[in-house]
Amino acid sequence: MANRFYPHSIYNFLRIADSNPSKKRILDCGAGGPDPKIAIFNEYGYEIHGIDIDDDQIKDAKEFAKKHKIKLNIMKADMREIPFEDRYFGFVFSYLSLVHLSKSDIGIAINEIHRVLQKDGLCYINFLSKEDKWYDKSQASSPGEIKTEHNGVEEFHSYFDDNEADKYFGNFEIIYKAKIQNFKGKYHNTGRTCILDYIGKKL
Ligand SMILES: C[S@@+](CC[C@H](N)C(=O)[O-])C[C@H]1O[C@@H](n2cnc3c(N)ncnc32)[C@H](O)[C@@H]1O
Repeated sequence: MANRFYPHSIYNFLRIADSNPSKKRILDCGAGGPDPKIAIFNEYGYEIHGIDIDDDQIKDAKEFAKKHKIKLNIMKADMREIPFEDRYFGFVFSYLSLVHLSKSDIGIAINEIHRVLQKDGLCYINFLSKEDKWYDKSQASSPGEIKTEHNGVEEFHSYFDDNEADKYFGNFEIIYKAKIQNFKGKYHNTGRTCILDYIGKKL
């Protein structure tokens, strides 16, 4: 029996993706870490690929892959420059990973996601809401952007107002949008409490 954790937003995307006729080839941007979300798409017959910028996160994902005997196809790359040709994927997603980019870099990454998607293909992207309990306005260097230091490691997070991220989806039809409140999943014990989910269809 599969004994794994996936957030409900991933199941929601899987459900919507399954009724889309695009090629079942999917990319996860920011795919590393001990709970790689791309794994579930393998179980549902997708050809899976992932990119991540961090060696340690890729290593953790590889350990998961070894334990569960899954080939994840995760390579080191930056989602602001996705190393795949135009229209290669029917589906692309990014789960709590674009959240680490500045708001202008998020625009660059979403343009890249658009480029590698085939027409009518779907993307799922989530953002941190300014209603998240860890959003501290007083720390923000510019609206919603926060740089912090954790155990000597610099971290960056972007937070959004309810409809602010709509601006990134000019070349998509937004087919699903939701504010996920009181998010209590076992997300690396981060305890994030408010996330904005978007599913876009490439026009
Ligand atoms: C909070 S973790 C989430 C990991 C995974 N999506 C999950 O849900 O378990 C954020 C991930 O995004 C990756 N990341 C951050 N900036 C990136 C970039 N520019 N390109 C690719 N990956 C990036 C980090 O290395 C990290 O693995």
